[in-house]
Amino acid sequence: MAAAAGARGIPGSAAWDPGTYLRFGDERSRPFADLLARVRVVAPRTVVDLGCGEGALTASLAERWPAARITGVDSSPEMLAAAAAHAVPGRVDFVAGDVRTWAPGGPVDLLVSNAVLHWVPGHDRLLGRWAAALAAGGALAVQVAGNFRAPTHALLAELCRSARWGGRLDAVAPVPDAVLDPAGYLDVLTGAGLVPDVWETTYLHVLSGPDPVLGWVRSTVLRPVLALLAATEAAELTADYAAVLRRSYPSRPDGTTVLPFRRIFAVGHRTV
Ligand SMILES: C[S@@+](CC[C@H](N)C(=O)[O-])C[C@H]1O[C@@H](n2cnc3c(N)ncnc32)[C@H](O)[C@@H]1O
Repeated sequence: MAAAAGARGIPGSAAWDPGTYLRFGDERSRPFADLLARVRVVAPRTVVDLGCGEGALTASLAERWPAARITGVDSSPEMLAAAAAHAVPGRVDFVAGDVRTWAPGGPVDLLVSNAVLHWVPGHDRLLGRWAAALAAGGALAVQVAGNFRAPTHALLAELCRSARWGGRLDAVAPVPDAVLDPAGYLDVLTGAGLVPDVWETTYLHVLSGPDPVLGWVRSTVLRPVLALLAATEAAELTADYAAVLRRSYPSRPDGTTVLPFRRIFAVGHRTV
């Protein structure tokens, strides 16, 4: 098993940009569908989406469970502003909150957190708290990126720690232990009294256009790094990063580029 999600991690505080994030909307929504496909709760009354982002996926939960009251929680004002467009009075709402301190007003039937917890160091402990908030028959469904050892992240970490950036970017360099291995999540869910269903998948995303891998990471792992730099410095780091990314993710003869992306899924059902 990998080390527990460490005390350090990539801060989630730099501004999120819903537009950049949605550039790869299809690729990013697939894991959400794959995650929810394993949830067996039939008619939840309360559903909470922790780290809901720009809200489209949260709102899609109302189609599957029309009688549920669905709440999306996020700490990003930019994401919440975009999510407001998906609110449905009395059925889907969005509130500001930090998933690290969030606590429900009462038992929840389904807790979803998709592509969020890799931004939250120590989230294994959080999962125990969330499991305790579940109503009998309820479920917890979590997906985290498992690509912290991939070239996208390792190369950026190397750049951040290089002599050029003189210790300024160490704190935002991606760390390899931001998430647990699947077996770690299985242990956490079992320990919390849930029936676990844990798996991993590596999606092979076929991207097009110039420097598409750079385009992908701009809205995620690169975001907190650039947030610490002046515009000219950000351009310099981005150019260096783009060059090494091109070597690790070469363009194919048809002009596309393959980005392998590992994700880890953990669903837990409370039977009593
Ligand atoms: C990669 S996006 C995923 C959004 C959405 N769940 C989806 O699947 O499209 C990560 C989201 O987590 C939110 N986030 C990160 N850390 C958070 C925290 N501590 N509390 C609340 N939201 C957080 C960010 O603001 C962002 O909207």
